Amino acid sequence: MLRVRAPATSANLGSGFDTFGVALDRPSDVVAVEKADRTSIEVSGVGARFIPEDPEQNTVGAVADALDAPARISIEKGVRPASGLGSSAASAAAAAVALNELYEREKSREELVPIAAEGEAVVSGDAHADNVAPSILGGFTIARDDGVTRLDADISLVVCLPELVISTRDARQVVPEQARMPAVVETVRNAATLTAGIARSDPTLVGRGMDDPVVTPARAELIDGYEQVRRAAFDAGASGVTISGAGPGILAVCPDGTQRDIALATIETFADAGIEARAFQTAIGSGATLL
Ligand code: HSE
Repeated sequence: MLRVRAPATSANLGSGFDTFGVALDRPSDVVAVEKADRTSIEVSGVGARFIPEDPEQNTVGAVADALDAPARISIEKGVRPASGLGSSAASAAAAAVALNELYEREKSREELVPIAAEGEAVVSGDAHADNVAPSILGGFTIARDDGVTRLDADISLVVCLPELVISTRDARQVVPEQARMPAVVETVRNAATLTAGIARSDPTLVGRGMDDPVVTPARAELIDGYEQVRRAAFDAGASGVTISGAGPGILAVCPDGTQRDIALATIETFADAGIEARAFQTAIGSGATLL
């Protein structure tokens, strides 16, 4: 039996919709695999009751199919489903790395990214790789159809999770089909700024580059209290605040010494809006690891 841990991730970072992602140093999923004649899946841990164990409907079943690697698979969830932290991607990433090893498929980590993304298509209807890429490779990733570019960065973050449920499928339905040219120019400018900030491990530049005038405003409507929480996080010292992935999690970039205040500010502001929330301090972390 083989076990692999793969981290939660935060995709988009505002300006990099369906493109940017970062691995978080916590939480994570652990997937254990054992060879079998046909694939079966067991799920335990956080939010397990919301995750189908039917291989046709589980992200990990698609990964086992794509690698032609039938297995008894057990998923221990640490990443809450429908939180905006790449929950299904963490399972898919861990399964891809584990099954590749178990069946000696000898695929590189980069080659496993599109395979794990097939699992994403099962849950969101779309094979985007912006969560699975950092979950497999770690660090900050730029996912393209023809490959992934990866950068390391030392950036402190806070993630706040309100007790709201938004499915990726629903959040994708509000994404505008078109954008106006000034919004496109602003997005390109911000995405470039963010990438430079990552290359320099500079939280100010990363935060400045997170604004997104196209997708985030549409999705913010789905998260009660979002604008107030964003404002409160900035007031507490954040250099950038946006929706984590498809939401409802909120991601804040934290200059030195601001993490605790930002975490508290987000929880208190959601509470003022009548929404329970929890927040945790994290950072850009490493990718999937064999245990
Ligand atoms: N880029 C994706 C989205 C991430 O925002 O819809 C969630 O799967």
